[in-house]
Amino acid sequence: MVDKVKKRSLDHIADAQKVMVGGVNSPVRSFKGVGGSPLVMEYGKGAKLFDVDGNSYTDYCLSWGALILGHSPRNAILAAKKTVERGTSFGATTRAEIEMAKFITRAVPSIDLIRFVNSGTEATMSAIRVSRGFTKRHKIIKFDGCYHGHFDDLLTTAGSGVANLASSSSLGIPDSHIANTLSLPYNNTQVLVDTIERHKNDIACVIIEPVAGNMGVIPAEKEFLKTLRDITKKNKIVLIFDEVMTGFRNHIGGAQAEYGIVPDLTCLGKIIGGGFPVGAYGGRKDIMECLAPLGGVYQAGTFSGNPVVMRTGLATLKLLSSDFYRSLNERAENLSRELNAFFIEKHIPVRLSHFKTMMSFRFSDISIQNYDDACMAASDQKYRELFWHLVDRGIYMPPADLEAFFISGMHTKKDLADLGTAIKSFFK
Ligand SMILES: Cc1ncc(COP(=O)(O)O)c(C=O)c1O
Repeated sequence: MVDKVKKRSLDHIADAQKVMVGGVNSPVRSFKGVGGSPLVMEYGKGAKLFDVDGNSYTDYCLSWGALILGHSPRNAILAAKKTVERGTSFGATTRAEIEMAKFITRAVPSIDLIRFVNSGTEATMSAIRVSRGFTKRHKIIKFDGCYHGHFDDLLTTAGSGVANLASSSSLGIPDSHIANTLSLPYNNTQVLVDTIERHKNDIACVIIEPVAGNMGVIPAEKEFLKTLRDITKKNKIVLIFDEVMTGFRNHIGGAQAEYGIVPDLTCLGKIIGGGFPVGAYGGRKDIMECLAPLGGVYQAGTFSGNPVVMRTGLATLKLLSSDFYRSLNERAENLSRELNAFFIEKHIPVRLSHFKTMMSFRFSDISIQNYDDACMAASDQKYRELFWHLVDRGIYMPPADLEAFFISGMHTKKDLADLGTAIKSFFK
């Protein structure tokens, strides 16, 4: 296979590095995780992404899971165009956001009232603030390896020792911002119960990805989530599901509908914007009513509920029927089954971790329950080689190990068969 021509990408990146930090606007795009120079993208259509050198790729990154209908889906693009022609932002309430709010409150079991924001980070940050305002408590619990955006209080490394005290994973965050953050191992019921028992009167909320997608894919154990639900309810602690990645991904009601567990608050992002920047948080009426203008918790945004985003998002969500999910999930399950059967048959210590259309590679055959397991099964070197092997075969994956990859409604059986063949040819 001849290496793809990347000359224009190289030139553009050299240019970008002169004016943008590291040549990018989000660190993972720099390809630090896979080496080499980033590909500069030009346009997307269906399941395909095209770079500035004219190479095409079947895209499994899909803007980090946002593009459930693939690139430039007709209905969503028409909705965006039609809306743009009537003005792009009013800083006032529009019918679009009311319709969107009605749609989401009907679809997602936990959401009585919703507030739209502009990113997943804003959603989690604001959900934590309203939880603290509601409970008048300050401590928060998160789980090692879960990512909730770049909010200071959540940007922590794994908990250390018995105290589960987190330390910051970024410079520029005062210790005081994370002094109230406890970070616990995912899927460990005993540590969770002990920690809540010790701090119950100080804990405002627990935030969790019900299916973790930022340490590779790790679905939470149902019993673990049930205990989490019971113990938070008993101690009047707000339970937040961060469904920025899982929301509308495999089911119209998100992971909470799939597990049958209803949190107090839910954070959304990615898919609900139909490819535009978005976030949302919502949940129990009595908690959400603590927000201004009804209550004393302040949170605001110039572009929140932007009509172009709302109309495009709504046009997207309206296409997500149960038949759509059935077919999409089935294609994903077939791919995972086929690849894992191949790894087992050939005695290759690699597995595809998956929860329906969320998937990731593990360079080990150990069972993965938490962040420590995920790190043990990670290999930057092997992922780097796999990533470029796939690029050379016209396949684009997220440019970092421990990131999830996704399929969209536009990925055909043939696309997935080609992906299977390309992966197998790497490991043979
Ligand atoms: C689970 C989860 N929460 C929050 C975020 C942050 O969202 P955003 O990048 O829109 O700020 C992400 C981003 O990938 C995410 O995966």
